Amino acid sequence: MKNIIVGILTFGIIALMVMTFMAGGAYHGGEHAKVIENFGDKMNNAKATKIEEKDDRAKEMDKLNALRDKAGNAGAFEVSQAYKSKCASCHGVNGSGEQNGKKLMGPKLFGQSSEKIYQDLVDFKAGRKENMIMKGLLIKLSEEELRVFADEIGEFPARAKEANQ
Ligand code: HEC
Repeated sequence: MKNIIVGILTFGIIALMVMTFMAGGAYHGGEHAKVIENFGDKMNNAKATKIEEKDDRAKEMDKLNALRDKAGNAGAFEVSQAYKSKCASCHGVNGSGEQNGKKLMGPKLFGQSSEKIYQDLVDFKAGRKENMIMKGLLIKLSEEELRVFADEIGEFPARAKEANQ
């Protein structure tokens, strides 16, 4: 009797193993694998949408920049060769502190008064305002030269207005 029960159980187990093998379930991850596969698809879709969103955002930024230039906030205008060669790389050719929508190293100067700019420059040079970059740059410039830079930068908004009329 015991042998018969064990025989039936063994047969049942073998039959189950054969069935699951044929269904390909247990050996290939079964339902779980499907869920993971679907999830993978969803992730890829999400990635694709994100990339599209980024493209859209870049287009929006372009539009915004075009508008900003039109508004004369800090469009293109004439600056001195000295400003171009000594300051523009970090503060932007128009003092906006950015180039093609990307932030540069230096802050925005556009719109600051020549008095404030001059004070900042003198303070950098004297070491009262600490910045190694600006200090190293200004150490070779005389106070008259600082005054000329400050006066020019203070004029930026007026120049931008004129250039955009
Ligand atoms: C190598 C990069 C670099 C160059 C070139 C440079 N600057 Fe700067 N400038 C900076 C950085 C960085 C700061 C910010 C310093 C801080 O706030 O600690 C700064 C700050 C200033 C400030 C203070 C502005 C504020 O709002 O605090 C003025 C004014 C200024 N720069 C003017 C000039 C002028 C004029 C020139 C050209 C003669 C020049 N800079 C060239 C990097 C630069």
